[in-house]
Amino acid sequence: MFRKAVVTGGAGFIGSYIVDRLADAGVEEIVVIDNLSSGSLGNIARHVGKPYLRFVKADLKRFGEWAEEFRGADVVFHFAANPEVRISATEPRIHFEENLVATFNVLEASRLGDVRLHVFASSSTVYGEAEKIPTPEDYHPLNPISVYGAVKLGGEALYTAYSNLYGFKTLIARYANIIGPRSTHGVIVDFVRKLMRNPRELEILGDGTQRKSYLYVEEAVDATLHALRYTAEQGRNVEVFNIGNEDWVTVVEIADIVVEEMGLRNVRYRFRPATPDGRGWPGDVKLMLLDISRLKSIGWRPRISSREAVRLTARSVIERFRASGSS
Ligand SMILES: NC(=O)c1ccc[n+]([C@@H]2O[C@H](COP(=O)([O-])OP(=O)(O)OC[C@H]3O[C@@H](n4cnc5c(N)ncnc54)[C@H](O)[C@@H]3O)[C@@H](O)[C@H]2O)c1
Repeated sequence: MFRKAVVTGGAGFIGSYIVDRLADAGVEEIVVIDNLSSGSLGNIARHVGKPYLRFVKADLKRFGEWAEEFRGADVVFHFAANPEVRISATEPRIHFEENLVATFNVLEASRLGDVRLHVFASSSTVYGEAEKIPTPEDYHPLNPISVYGAVKLGGEALYTAYSNLYGFKTLIARYANIIGPRSTHGVIVDFVRKLMRNPRELEILGDGTQRKSYLYVEEAVDATLHALRYTAEQGRNVEVFNIGNEDWVTVVEIADIVVEEMGLRNVRYRFRPATPDGRGWPGDVKLMLLDISRLKSIGWRPRISSREAVRLTARSVIERFRASGSS
């Protein structure tokens, strides 16, 4: 494993599970850099105060003292971002700054700190509306339909250039929808929140036929570390891996699972398509299933299906909301 690792966005959903795994593997120094805009210290509560963890509250959009933390790191996991694809159409500047300017700053900190190994949290949205489903990594043209997807693609390009220029090794992880306990955004959280407010009716963004693939967060982290090992040991400067599941579910199926897990009956679904073709919001990709043959070829495969992952996540989100008495 590593001696020192930096995790940007390490107090967020996926990032905090990366921190868990690094700590469990005995990494001596884990630096979490996060501005706590959507993350929280609660996500890394079991590590706070431990000698191996250093938490630095900083905004990566502004280059600053936080960059010093990169010196001596064996690896940087860059997971900080604003992951809400929905705001892309109305507030594109947020994604440009949070997801591209910040990525540039992280790369500069990596260059100055001479960090050689990297993971960039990219996304299935770089493909846009692929005509080939499941979509493999070498699918072309990459054709994002949201600014979120565009800046993730921009981030991939920056990582590629830095890797080629400075000899970095980079794993570009193109994630499908990642779900699980601690998630604070996305369709399941949205449904649970709405149903807690009104258990008789559920507003569904889009026509409900959107069909996508979901991977349970602990599996996503496991796959990431597996692909990272491959990248470090046998990979080229840049290795791109799709990280997702082999099946997919529709939004209506997700609604049914959430309703069932909440113990509700006769809930009326009210569909709110944002576009004539039934998208949830402008820039919503209606069909997403990644081809994970490449990941399988290096020895990793998912064990929890999309449907099971949705159920497990719904259960934990419901429990969390009920325990905190809020939605
Ligand atoms: N969750 C998914 O389904 C999914 C899918 C594809 C890609 N991703 C990518 O994975 C990464 C993690 O996503 P997540 O779902 O865990 O989201 P998240 O919002 O839970 O985590 C992001 C973290 O980054 C922090 N952050 C945001 N802007 C920052 C800034 N300017 N400076 C410092 N910290 C900042 C937030 O406080 C948060 O802790 C993101 O890059 C996201 O785009 C997520």
